[in-house]
Amino acid sequence: MRLAKLEELETIKPFDCGDSDLNGFLFENARFYKAEMIANTFVLESDTTTIAYFSLLNDMISQTMMDKNLWRKLRKRIPHQKHLGSYPAVKVGRLAVSLEHKGKGLGRELLDTIKQMSINHQSISAMRFLTVDAYLAAVPFYEKNGFRPLLNAPQGNTLPMYFDLKPLV
Ligand SMILES: CC(C)(COP(=O)(O)OP(=O)(O)OC[C@H]1O[C@@H](n2cnc3c(N)ncnc32)[C@H](O)[C@@H]1OP(=O)(O)O)[C@@H](O)C(=O)NCCC(=O)NCCS
Repeated sequence: MRLAKLEELETIKPFDCGDSDLNGFLFENARFYKAEMIANTFVLESDTTTIAYFSLLNDMISQTMMDKNLWRKLRKRIPHQKHLGSYPAVKVGRLAVSLEHKGKGLGRELLDTIKQMSINHQSISAMRFLTVDAYLAAVPFYEKNGFRPLLNAPQGNTLPMYFDLKPLV
């Protein structure tokens, strides 16, 4: 098993996570997003298959996009004199584990990897939070991994969520 940047791979090995949008993104859009500097994709693969992948891009959490009570909770994490209207973040644009490898702790390991990668890159550009638009079925997975809602109610079939990186530093 190895984790590689998409651009290091000559071909993308077969992948099925059970969701056609997430499958399609990897094969049809991920290289284009990289070329246009919109999102970077990382692929976990074996010799024969793609086991999982995730995409990352820059993001921001702002007061205007959150419910007031949740914004107050988030702001409690920041010292009073540094209270701003928005904070920098990295977005987990896509995260998917193949059907064959689901439920074996890989999703958690990949989120841990993303958290560590984000902390390691603080020297280039500051990012305080991770964000994700979680599929409703995946909300309990993100909650178990320390993510909290940005809104009290879903937006369509996703719920925007955040994770605070600071306690890990
Ligand atoms: C959601 C997904 C990434 C989770 O990856 P995974 O490798 O199956 O998850 P893990 O085995 O690491 O699970 C970690 C914990 O979350 C729980 N969990 C995982 N998926 C869950 C779900 N859908 N609902 C409730 N709990 C879930 C696991 O039971 C485990 O809990 P435990 O620590 O109490 O044992 C994966 O199932 C997937 O790719 N799903 C389809 C695509 C998708 O929904 N992606 C998210 C887009 S926002």
